[in-house]
Amino acid sequence: MKVAVLGAAGGIGQALSLLLKTQLPAGSELALYDVAPVVPGVAVDLSHIPTAVKVTGHGKEELEQALTGTDIVLIPAGVPRKPGMDRSDLFNINAGIVKTLIEGVAEHCPKACIGVITNPVNTTVAIAAETLKQKGVYDKNKLFGVTTLDVIRAETFVAELKDLDPANVHVPVIGGHSGTTILPLLSQVEGVSFSDEEVEKLTHRIQNAGTEVVEAKAGGGSATLSMGQAAARFCLSLVAAMQGENVVEYTYVQTDDSDDAAFFSHPVRLGPNGVEEILPYGNLSSFEQKAKDDMLEGLRGDIQIGVEFVNS
Ligand code: NAD
Ligand code: LMR
Repeated sequence: MKVAVLGAAGGIGQALSLLLKTQLPAGSELALYDVAPVVPGVAVDLSHIPTAVKVTGHGKEELEQALTGTDIVLIPAGVPRKPGMDRSDLFNINAGIVKTLIEGVAEHCPKACIGVITNPVNTTVAIAAETLKQKGVYDKNKLFGVTTLDVIRAETFVAELKDLDPANVHVPVIGGHSGTTILPLLSQVEGVSFSDEEVEKLTHRIQNAGTEVVEAKAGGGSATLSMGQAAARFCLSLVAAMQGENVVEYTYVQTDDSDDAAFFSHPVRLGPNGVEEILPYGNLSSFEQKAKDDMLEGLRGDIQIGVEFVNS
C-alpha cells in the first residue's frame, strides 16, 4: 500500500503524516510531497519513528516520484482561512493548486483513490472530477471529498452534551463541507434524544465548528490536528476496505441522485476499488428536511463554480 500526502509540510499534512506513519499497515510506503523546502526534513524526521512504514520526501519538482505507484492520494495542499473569511474566499488560490496536483495524479497514478481535503471542498472536488474527465481517467468511485471532520466533531459535541463516551456515539453528517451545507442528522443518533432547542444549537455549532477554530487560532490558520485525525481515519478506513474489510464512512462523492446535488456526502460502503456502494441516508426529521431543502441551491452553485473553472 502506498499513500501520498500532497501538502505534507503544512499543518494538516504533518499531523496526518505522523498518524499514518504510526498506523498504516507494516510494509506500507508514505510519500510526502510539498512545494515548501522543509518537506524532505519532515520525511527524515518521521523516518526516525520505529514502524515498518517507509517514508520518502519529495520537493516541488518531484511530484512524479511521489505519485508513481500510489494507491491513495490525500490532498491538503493550499491556503487555510483567516478570521472573517468564508471557505469560498480560498477558491482563487486553491482551485489552481488542486487542478495542477490532480493533473499530476492523472498522469502518474490514474487508478489511485483520491481524498480531497483542500477548501472549498464543495468546489475543489468538482474541480478534481472535471480535471480527471479532461484527462480521460475519471472514475467517480475513486474520488472523495474528506468530510470526516464534520462527523468527528458532531460525535464529540453530542458526547459532551449528553455525557457519553465519544467512542460509542455515531452521528451521520450529510451534504457538503461549508456552513449550512453541513447537515448532521441528529434524529438518527441511536439511544439519544434531543429537545428542539438542542437540535438547533448543536446543528449550528457543528456547521460553524471550523469557524470556531479559525477564530480561536486568531489568524494562525484553521483546524489542523483534528483534521489530521479525521483524514487519517478516512485513509485507514480506505486501506482496511482495500484489504477486504467491510467499512462505511460518510464522504462527499458523486451521486446520481438529481434530487440532491451532483456531489453529496452519504454513508458509503468502501471496497477494494473505492466506492463499493452509496448507501441511502435514511429518513430526515422535518427540521433536517427543511435544512436540506434550504441548502441545496447553494451547494449546487458551489459545484457549478468548480465545473466552470475547469471547462471555461
Ligand atoms: P497550511 O498552510 O498549514 O499547509 C498547506 C501546505 O500546502 C503548505 O505546506 C504549502 O506549502 C502546501 N502547498 C501549497 N501549494 C502547494 C502545491 N501546489 N503543491 C503542494 N503543496 C502545496 O494549511 P493547512 O492548515 O494544512 O490547510 C490546508 C487546506 O486544508 C486548506 O485549504 C484548509 O482550508 C483545508 N482544510 C480542510 C478541512 C476539511 O475538513 N476538508 C479541514 C481543515 C482544513
Ligand atoms: C474546517 O471545517 O475546520 C475546515 O474546513 C477549515 C475551515 O476553514 O473551517
